[in-house]
Amino acid sequence: MERLDKFLTEAGVGTRSQVKQILKTGRVAVDGKAIKDGSSKIDPSVQTVTLDGDMLCGKRRMVVMLNKPEGYVTATEDPRDPTVMELLPERWKHQQLRPVGRLDKATEGLLLFTNDGELLHRLISPKKGVEKVYYARHEGNATQADVKAFAEGLTLRDGTVCLSAKLTPIGPGESMIAVCEGKYHQVRRMMASRQMTVLYLERRQEGGLTLNGLDRGCSRELTEAEVMKLEEMAD
Ligand code: URA
Repeated sequence: MERLDKFLTEAGVGTRSQVKQILKTGRVAVDGKAIKDGSSKIDPSVQTVTLDGDMLCGKRRMVVMLNKPEGYVTATEDPRDPTVMELLPERWKHQQLRPVGRLDKATEGLLLFTNDGELLHRLISPKKGVEKVYYARHEGNATQADVKAFAEGLTLRDGTVCLSAKLTPIGPGESMIAVCEGKYHQVRRMMASRQMTVLYLERRQEGGLTLNGLDRGCSRELTEAEVMKLEEMAD
């Protein structure tokens, strides 16, 4: 929730004193009802604010996490498959959220979205090295030689060289993999290069954030503290 006058100033309606005058004349409506009190609290992600009947888009930055189920493609539109955008609530439709990086159609777990292009860029940049942690069920068992090869930086079957990554075997045919870049099908290809075909893949962490009990298929906005943590990681 935020103050109506602050929302109007940030939306470019005018200076604080101009906004005050505009409010006095009853030209501003929230969900169709004229509001004159600038200290009224509004939620721009669910409420519609208009000036003389024209809708205002707040410049509110949003960062959202989704627990992605399998079967959805990470794209804003797709002619064949359902997209991750369809899993976000209707009320965020006008917030111009974009997925941060991508998860494969079959991969589940933590996927971030934001409408802040600059933050998005920093989060996906390999230079910033934001860590992503995956749980994988796979064919074969990870050995100490595999752990060493991941740490040294793998060369994939097509010659692509990967940055150092952390492979942690956690049981027969089960491993955790931490990577700081996001190449196409990266984890599946890294595991395949060591003869461990991935059977199931789930992202459990990104930039220190975890799903923390969020149900599969559900999404929520990050808290201020979580956004700050993410900013620090991408700094
Ligand atoms: N690596 C993959 O291979 N797939 C994903 O979805 C994410 C990382």
